[in-house]
Amino acid sequence: MDPKNIPQHIAIIMDGNGRWAKQKGLPRAAGHKEGVSSLKEVLKACAEVGVKFLTVYAFSTENWGRPKTEVDFLMALFSQTIDRQVKELMESKVRIRFLGRLDDFSPKLKKKMREAMEKTKGNARISLNVMVNYGGRAEIVDAANEIVREKQGEAGRSRDVTEEELSKHLYTKDLPDPDLLIRTASEMRVSNFMLWQIAYAEIYVTPVLWPDFRRGQLIAAIEEYQKRERRFGKL
Ligand code: IPE
Ligand code: IPE
Ligand code: MG
Repeated sequence: MDPKNIPQHIAIIMDGNGRWAKQKGLPRAAGHKEGVSSLKEVLKACAEVGVKFLTVYAFSTENWGRPKTEVDFLMALFSQTIDRQVKELMESKVRIRFLGRLDDFSPKLKKKMREAMEKTKGNARISLNVMVNYGGRAEIVDAANEIVREKQGEAGRSRDVTEEELSKHLYTKDLPDPDLLIRTASEMRVSNFMLWQIAYAEIYVTPVLWPDFRRGQLIAAIEEYQKRERRFGKL
């Protein structure tokens, strides 16, 4: 790995938990649980190699359509993981953010998410952004509505909205765009993830299932990223 060409921001579609469990003859929940271990290991490795932002897709706006037992399990897992990990996030200087339509969660879970964000907001080694009840389309719609509301208060002739202004109203307003987008478990699609922000991200899809994606797989993805030539439409 070239230490001078580490992606500043890595985004991951953590997919394949259910398939991992099925292969082992376990309930899908076991795959989600093991996925938390992968996230912990990948976060640690990212911090060590100098990645500054790690953004992970944990629950999409479409995932509510799964059986209630699975949705309930995931909500309980989020809650339990926050309880267990905040201390460690403080020790390893990780700032955590939960981005998405948080209002649809139970007041109790929402409160835990807000408290974890508040508690870790001074940590600067790496930022972990957990996308929950997140949809790329929902995010753009929320940004558009926020801009419309702000404009209603403004006097005079309305101005056109710029790309910069729209970016500043996304949930990711304080973050640079991802340099590298990783999707585990083979699917060649973006599934409503960061539609705006991945405009020029390098895409890396691996057959490795998320619970098996560990430090070695992360390094392999970064090495592949370092072979890419990023042109941004230029020559
Ligand atoms: C990703 O794993 C985790 C979430 C979407 C919450 P999946 O649960 O989608 O696993 P597969 O795709 O069924 O294997
Ligand atoms: C994307 O995975 C959502 C998350 C990883 C949280 P899905 O498993 O929900 O996506 P599809 O159904 O394969 O497109
Ligand atoms: Mg999936």
